[in-house]
Parts: sequence; C-alpha cells; structure tokens
Amino acid sequence: MRYTLPLGSRPFGPLCIMPQMEVVELEPRPTNRDNRLYGASELSGLSRTGHQSQRRPQHNQDPDHDAESTVAVFPDELDRILEKLVIVVPCKDEPVDVIRGVIAGIPSRCAVILVSNCSHKHGENGWEAQERMLAGCCAWGREGCFVHQQYPGAAMAFKEAGVPEILDTASGRIRNGKGEGMYLGIAMAKSYFPHHQYIGFIDADNRIPGSVVEYCKAYAGGFALAQRSAAKSGTEHEDVMVRISWASKPKYSASTGRIEFVQQGRSSRIINSFLNRLFAKAGQQDEFITTGNAGEHAMTMEMALKMRMANGYAIEPFQYIEPLLRNKIPSANLPNASQTTRIVQIKTANPHLHRETGDEHIIKMWAAGLGALYHHLLGVDSASGLGTTTLATLRKDMHKFALQNGAIQGQEELPRPNIYSSLDNADLDSFRDVLGEPCSGHVYGGLGFYGLVDQAWASSGTNSPASQSTLEHDSWGEDDQRSSASSEEEPEVLSDSSKQGE
Ligand code: GDD
Ligand code: MG
Repeated sequence: MRYTLPLGSRPFGPLCIMPQMEVVELEPRPTNRDNRLYGASELSGLSRTGHQSQRRPQHNQDPDHDAESTVAVFPDELDRILEKLVIVVPCKDEPVDVIRGVIAGIPSRCAVILVSNCSHKHGENGWEAQERMLAGCCAWGREGCFVHQQYPGAAMAFKEAGVPEILDTASGRIRNGKGEGMYLGIAMAKSYFPHHQYIGFIDADNRIPGSVVEYCKAYAGGFALAQRSAAKSGTEHEDVMVRISWASKPKYSASTGRIEFVQQGRSSRIINSFLNRLFAKAGQQDEFITTGNAGEHAMTMEMALKMRMANGYAIEPFQYIEPLLRNKIPSANLPNASQTTRIVQIKTANPHLHRETGDEHIIKMWAAGLGALYHHLLGVDSASGLGTTTLATLRKDMHKFALQNGAIQGQEELPRPNIYSSLDNADLDSFRDVLGEPCSGHVYGGLGFYGLVDQAWASSGTNSPASQSTLEHDSWGEDDQRSSASSEEEPEVLSDSSKQGE
C-alpha cells in the first residue's frame, strides 16, 4: 500500500489524531526512496513536516502524490501484521451470499469471527446457513469462529466474566445492537485467538469483496506505519486505531437515474462536522476528521480490551472521545498501560457500497452518535486542552440539530448510550471456560470453530471444561423464539431498492 504522508497530527492530551492519509497505490513498486526508508536503520516518520514544500515536483508529476510525499508498506510487512489480525464481521439478516463475499475479501491470513444477530435459524439465509457458509470458507485452512449474539452460553459467559450489564434484563440474553456484537467479538477474539495482536471490524453488508481486501490491508499498513513511527521516536507503548473513510459511497439517484458517487454518508457528514468543531485547530474548523462514524476500523488488541464501548451505533463516535475520559477510570489488569492513543485515518481507493437505508435509520444514527458525544463531552479531561466554552456550545448545538431534524422531540434529551466496561476488567478466563474448548467441525448450534483455531487454543495452554454441549441443547435456536429480538433494535428488512442510503 502506498499512502500520502499525513502532515500535521493534532495532540489532545493522551489522544493524537493524524490527518487523513489517502491510498494512492494498492500494490506499489519500491522506489529508491522507499528502499532507503524501508530498511530498519532508517524508518519513515509519520509526523514529518515541511518536507514536501521544500521540493519542487518534476514536470508532469502530481504535486500532491510525488514519491517524496508518499509512504509505502510492502507485502511482507503487511503479511506480518495480517497474520496477527482478527476480523470481526457483525451481521444480521444479510443474504448469506453477501456475507460470503465479505469473508472472501478478508485475506486468508486473518482469522475471522462472524458475530450474527440473525433473526431466524432456518432457511437459506438463516443463521444456520451463515454458520455453514463460514465452515465452508474455512475449509481451506482459514481460522474462523461463528457465534450468535443470542447464544445462551455467550450470555452466561459474560455473566460469569462479571459483565452483566451487557445482558437484556427481560430475556437474559446479550442485548441487540452492533456495539454489543462487536464487544462480544472482542471477547471471543481474546479468548480464542490469544496470540493475535490486532482486531478489526468490517460490516457484513458490503457488496464489494475487493474493497474488503483493501480495508484489511489498509489496517495492516496503518499499524505498520505507526510501528515505524513509534520506533523512530522511541515511543514504547502506544495504542493505535486505524479508521477508514472511503473514496466514495455510490448511491442511486432517482432524480437523475444515475449512480452518484457521494463523498460522505448522511450520518458521517453530521458526526464529522461536530467532531471537526471539537478538534478544530486554533478555532479554525476544517475537514480534519473524516472517520467519526467509521464502521470499518481496527485497533491493537490491547486497546480493544482497554476501551470502554458504547452500545449499538454509538460505538464508533464514542471511540473518539473515550481516550480523553480514560484517565478517570484506571485499568485493573494493565497497571502500566499506555496513556497515549494514536488515531490513524485512511481514505481507501475503493468505494463503499452497502445496503441502502431509509431516513428513519439515519435519524436514529444521528441520535445515537450525537448522544454518545453529548453525554460525555463534559467529562473530557482538561489535559486535552479542549476548552469548556467550546464543549458547552457544541453540546447546545448538537441538541439543537437533533431537535430541528427530528432525532429527538420536545423536551427530550439526546439518548444516553449504554457504556460497557473495558474488557480487561472482565474475567475472560471464566468467559472462555463457560464457552468451552473450540472443536473444529462443530455442529451448527450457534457457536462454532473452524480451521486451525484448535492449535491456537492448544498453544495458549488453557484448560477448558467444554461446557458448551449442554448449552447447545437449549431450545433458544428455533425461529422467532428470541424474546429480545423485539427490543431496542429490530432486525431490519433488507432492501436494495430504497433510494436513500446512509
Ligand atoms: N451482530 C450484530 N448485532 N450485528 C449487527 C447488529 C446487531 O445487533 N446490528 C447491525 N449489525 C450489523 C449489520 O448486519 C451490518 O453488517 C453492520 O452491523 C452495519 O449495520 P448497518 O445497519 O448496515 O449500518 P449502517 O450501514 O447504517 O452504518 C454503518 O456504517 C456507519 C458509518 O457510515 C455502521 O457500521 C455504523 O456503525 C457506522 O457508523
Ligand atoms: Mg450498512
């Protein structure tokens, strides 16, 4: 991957946000300069400043993208990270063929965890078929795990781990929501892929497998560059998160009868505009934040365990301010954990084509995203340098926007997100003990492990009581039996004919 060099990172106390880098070549050929920088002796810094302006581009050269203003990561470096990357794919009722396309795009070096909240078990697009599909995809040696969000054992595992707040009080199962699915994915990754150092997320409704390949490589490249930068500056410990924005989001326009390649989705546009006011430099608002809502993002496993997570669609915007709140809640299991978080923003070359959604969905996303910021801005550490007047004004304007645009009514407050505690404060040994030992070729019962996952387990030296056999026979899996399916976030009908997307 070759990227534009990001110039002008912005520090906010423990958080360092880098300006967006753009993918300019997917498979670069090393230039002389790359060869120099690639060696361990001379590492490319990510925070170079002023370098570009000193050098005049040659004739016919794009001044923005000449070799001096880019930085490249080559296949062996990418592969080294992809081997350690677990990709979590949260899904619901997407057609199995669409989910298969997403899995097909994930480099086979990466492990995959499919966390399903599909509303029905049987039929060609039921969760049993999703599980079977994943087993098929892992037949060539990929490591994979399937877990249904309503699997009773998963709820029991969180209870034993000391995270009862993730459970729906009525059903006793894990709550519905994308954030909850991702949280489960992180716990599964730590439990069953103990040697993997990175975790990434990719939505299941992506229609372009080729863009999925790019997301994974972009994650790996972002981590590689952050590592080079840390090595150069002597930083020992840094949490790194890579967030993706897309070249475009193709949408069908009924008025023109054409596909339009819009830059940002309707939800991202709003959340980014507020984050840009929050993280403006010297009061000058610009397009610095492009990934406020990034469903596609990845982070070091250590960071994923350390971060508190918000529910549903509040999860991604909350990640931007969570590092600024963290100092107040020390991590139990990582006393020496880093206090520095670096956010790397990457714009891909591929477009993002996914299921289109209607206005109601977007309004809910505005409410969730703004609510996640609104309710926590006042808790932001003063070390961030963010002024209290700015924070108060922003909150007022968020509330006003939500009211004027139907996200809240009358005297209503923006929704306050559920915040789940950091998983490094949870007892993940007990979590794993409840779910039991992974065994390949598992029957399709809502929890399954495929490929080489057994070896990872064996080498972690864990004793596992394999209690899952009793859980499998629970009657939860029959279609339409999930009591929680009607709460918070209803499974939505997939519609490709809707005219307006996010
Ligand atoms: N496991 C699980 N559980 N998955 C879920 C749930 C759930 O309760 N709810 C949604 N998902 C899955 C969907 O199946 C899909 O694969 C993915 O999460 C994203 O959900 P969408 O409903 O397609 O969201 P979106 O396209 O409107 O928004 C996406 O992009 C935004 C940025 O543009 C999401 O990734 C947002 O989180 C993101 O902010
Ligand atoms: Mg989508």
